[in-house]
Amino acid sequence: MRILVTGGAGFIGSALVRRLVEHTAHEVLVFDKLTYAGVLSSLESVAASNRYSFVQADICDADAVSKALQEFRPDVVAHLAAESHVDRSIDGPGDFIQTNMVGTFVMLNQTLGYWRALNEDAKAAFRFHHISTDEVFGSLGEDGFFTETTPYDPRSPYSASKAGSDHLVRAWGHTYGLPVLVTNCSNNYGPYHFPEKLIPLIIIRALNGEPLPVYGDGSNVRDWLFVDDHARALQAVFETGTPGETYNVGGNAERKNIEVVTAICSILDRLRPKDEGQYADQITYVTDRPGHDHRYAIDASKIRSDLDWTPAVTFEQGIEQTVAWYLENQSWWQDILDARYSTQRLGVANG
Ligand code: NAD
Ligand code: DAU
Repeated sequence: MRILVTGGAGFIGSALVRRLVEHTAHEVLVFDKLTYAGVLSSLESVAASNRYSFVQADICDADAVSKALQEFRPDVVAHLAAESHVDRSIDGPGDFIQTNMVGTFVMLNQTLGYWRALNEDAKAAFRFHHISTDEVFGSLGEDGFFTETTPYDPRSPYSASKAGSDHLVRAWGHTYGLPVLVTNCSNNYGPYHFPEKLIPLIIIRALNGEPLPVYGDGSNVRDWLFVDDHARALQAVFETGTPGETYNVGGNAERKNIEVVTAICSILDRLRPKDEGQYADQITYVTDRPGHDHRYAIDASKIRSDLDWTPAVTFEQGIEQTVAWYLENQSWWQDILDARYSTQRLGVANG
């Protein structure tokens, strides 16, 4: 298949592209604006493949999207391009509305025009796969899980913009017949994760001898999924999922934030012991994120039963692999720290 991946230079997009080029016969076009979060070095291992190509463009640019569709002629559009960081959405929501909502509208509208002109077989086989988040469902108490039928209740500018984009995608499926798929996934982690997110930020700040900021009292819960398991799920959905359906994807690995931070500290104590003391000594509780959702947890039974997907990597295996990757790939993250973002606190606009 020919797969156009928007946001393919980001964390999850690059994991998907590496998987498709290295483990399948599919051809891939990455369509990415290369914002602060787009990192071309994450695609270095596939850059020489003749089944990989790249175009730098904005999903809000209808002409650029149309040109890419007409020239590449995809069987699948895997739409991952987005502004993805909750804290940045608190400081500057405008980019989130623009890229996540307007950009998704442009992708849908241009794809619809392209799809309508395909022959009947190609039309039936085509898929527009929208990659979304569990944050659209809001926040859970101590019990319960998000299912595909949980009502939407987004609570941050980021999750509200993703919820809006999910609704647009379903509307284009329902109204125009575009064969759409939506996946809502829990927190990913793994190699090539941008240092603004909790896990890479803690690893890097620990190694740099800096305070490890835990928001609030550290009791917020996230359901962690190793990024390569997400990439496998995405492939299963666009290859074998039923158009019009939504699939929740999750790692069945709920952890309190403080547990995640202490797990990273213990691995570092073993792999890169400090001269004096332990990494956990650097933990510092800081002002909470405004509107901080308490708990996310995914019920992934539908994708397990319908598409035979389960996570292959446990949290303990994945976090060990991730810490080891950051130790071995300092040049990847040091370039980002030097030029783009140096792990300072975000998302406390107005105090
Ligand atoms: P990321 O921030 O690492 O990467 C986003 C990519 O999109 C970057 O390469 C960036 O350059 C590109 N991009 C941004 N705006 C663009 C625009 N206007 N035009 C073209 N390209 C643009 O994000 P990620 O963590 O890899 O997330 C990818 C997708 O998965 C997002 O849609 C996100 O909402 C969703 N998601 C993420 C997680 C997670 O834990 N990271 C979980 C569930 C769903
Ligand atoms: O649930 C899926 C979502 O997971 C994705 O849709 C988002 O794109 C992705 O960024 C992620 O959102 P979170 O807000 O959960 O991820 P983040 O890494 O920013 O934070 C994880 C938890 O850790 C959250 O409860 C806030 C907390 N945190 C975060 C940072 C950056 C801290 O305690 N300290 C920090 O320094």
